[in-house]
Amino acid sequence: MGPAGDTRLHTDLRRHLREKDIDRDLTRLICEIADASKYIVNAIRTGDLGMAGTSNLYGEQQLALDVLSDRILRKRLTHSGVVNTIVSEETSEVIKVETNGRGRFAVAYDPLDGSSLVDVNLAVGTIVSIYEGHDIMQPGRNQIAALYVLYGPRTTLVYTSGDGVYEFNMNHLMEYTLAQKVSRLAPSGSIYSPGGQRNLYSKGVEKFVSQLEEEGAKLRYSGGLVPDFNQILIKGKGMFLYPHLEGKPSGKLRLLYELNPMAFIMEQAGGAASNGKMRILDVQPEAIDQTEPIFIGCRKEVEEAEQLIAELG
Ligand code: AHG
Ligand code: MN
Ligand code: MN
Repeated sequence: MGPAGDTRLHTDLRRHLREKDIDRDLTRLICEIADASKYIVNAIRTGDLGMAGTSNLYGEQQLALDVLSDRILRKRLTHSGVVNTIVSEETSEVIKVETNGRGRFAVAYDPLDGSSLVDVNLAVGTIVSIYEGHDIMQPGRNQIAALYVLYGPRTTLVYTSGDGVYEFNMNHLMEYTLAQKVSRLAPSGSIYSPGGQRNLYSKGVEKFVSQLEEEGAKLRYSGGLVPDFNQILIKGKGMFLYPHLEGKPSGKLRLLYELNPMAFIMEQAGGAASNGKMRILDVQPEAIDQTEPIFIGCRKEVEEAEQLIAELG
């Protein structure tokens, strides 16, 4: 194999984690999740697109793919030996894992975010939030690591353990190799990704979005949090919002599985994340299925959104 195709020239995920002195148990956990994602990619590419015939705790019909991805990830986490508590967007209970005291981590995850986009062949992702200890109901600022895997034309993995954000590409051998340390976001940006129905926006949010449009921001919204967020992170500018809506005062996206991990990654990349009133990572969760409005991206826009919401709602 010539140098260009020699994967040994690229730092793989495990080696990167070792070089960064990430402790063995956390390295193990992140690598187990990375391994699980290889099976999830296969399921997405070739699996059954039908319904599972069940619904999750939000009353949403589960696709066979949601259920399968959840099982793949749960099995890896359960057998990793380092996880004591698991909670998934697709199951209603907190699962305790018996590890004879070895399990150090509590993990919350969304196995397949945006699964309703698979049948139209748009990008989807897996999102994971990691805490040390047994408590899953902590503010997101206590996370020790967070990551997502984006299944698009390529499969990429983005993680933080509190020391910057790193992006990996899945190569032809299905190994993750380091692509880059993600640069810090610009203080303000020109991409916006607005979720939820516009006619249900509050006055403050409507004014905020109109303002972005008047400033010439480009609309970039696919309906998948992971690709929409990833675009902002990797381009280094912009903002994603899924605000409070008329009839849905706490928006749609889930604090434990979607917002906390994304907020941790965004802050580590120099951006901000707010529910419109306070920092997402400071919200004390009260229920595992809690949702919050989200404004996430460049610091200046997040502050502007907060100001307009304080003034106009
Ligand atoms: P999930 O597929 O895990 O239920 O979540 C999908 C999320 C997220 O990816 C996206 O930002 C949002 O739902 C889109 O919601 P709308 O259907 O309201 O556009
Ligand atoms: Mn989701
Ligand atoms: Mn999901």
